[in-house]
Amino acid sequence: MADQWQNAMDHAVAIARKAGEVVREALRGDRKVMTKSSSIDLVTQTDQKVEQLIIQSVKERFPAHRFIGEESVAAGEPCDLTDQPTWIIDPIDGTTNFVHAFPFVAVSIGFCVDKKVEFGVVYSCLEDKMFVARRGRGAFCNGEPLKVSDQEDIKRSIVVTEFGSNRDPDAVDRIFSSLRKIVCLPVHGVRSAGTAAINLCLVASGSVEAYYEIGIHVWDVAAGSLMVTEAGGVLLDVEGGDVDLMSRRIVAANNRAVAGQIIRQLNVFSPPRDDTLPSHE
Ligand code: IPD
Repeated sequence: MADQWQNAMDHAVAIARKAGEVVREALRGDRKVMTKSSSIDLVTQTDQKVEQLIIQSVKERFPAHRFIGEESVAAGEPCDLTDQPTWIIDPIDGTTNFVHAFPFVAVSIGFCVDKKVEFGVVYSCLEDKMFVARRGRGAFCNGEPLKVSDQEDIKRSIVVTEFGSNRDPDAVDRIFSSLRKIVCLPVHGVRSAGTAAINLCLVASGSVEAYYEIGIHVWDVAAGSLMVTEAGGVLLDVEGGDVDLMSRRIVAANNRAVAGQIIRQLNVFSPPRDDTLPSHE
């Protein structure tokens, strides 16, 4: 059966590749760094330029579609996910990596209809890896199908997580106490790529068993979340319920056994939801 969203997905792949060229080019020059909610919440002109490039190009092709973009929300646009076709854009996921030339940065584009992610595109710009997932039709990296790891034992797993940009002492204590328990299970290892989108692609690729984080935003995870489920993995909330992409909390794992073993170690908290913030926290 013909795919209703094939044209939109093809467009997303093309524009993500073009955006990736802009990111790579910017990495060769000076990067003017600005801050948003705090001194460690960074943004550059390239984030803003790439987001505009993507939004303009999608608007020309699909004028009725809506947008949630990291930098547009930071500039005061609402972060509302309705049932209308909506593009959820992180122009540079891994902005801190980009600023420091730590070589993992991604352009992340998720596309939702009726609040469900229909397709996700994550372009890992420096690795030149194009990850694409289409709901019900699988996940791929540079055309090769992705499949999660079949490991069921957390003690034989690699777990990915991030500290994010929250430095509230209570939140930091909870993040460390959770991490301490996971490290001491013990797991084989803990990693951080510095980009939620790539972390999710690592789960989808079977390179790691799980990723969890509290504090991410919908634009960090919309596209990568579909990569995980289409590669056979699971998404849950950090308390074990259904994942809610606006809640800023996620556990992505190869299977329920591993996800459950992580959830049992977590000392959770609830940052303000994306859809209740006037602008990007
Ligand atoms: C950040 C990255 C990072 C995660 C943060 C995100 P940004 O996104 O995904 O890995 O720890 O929570 O905000 O700001 O680079 O788009």
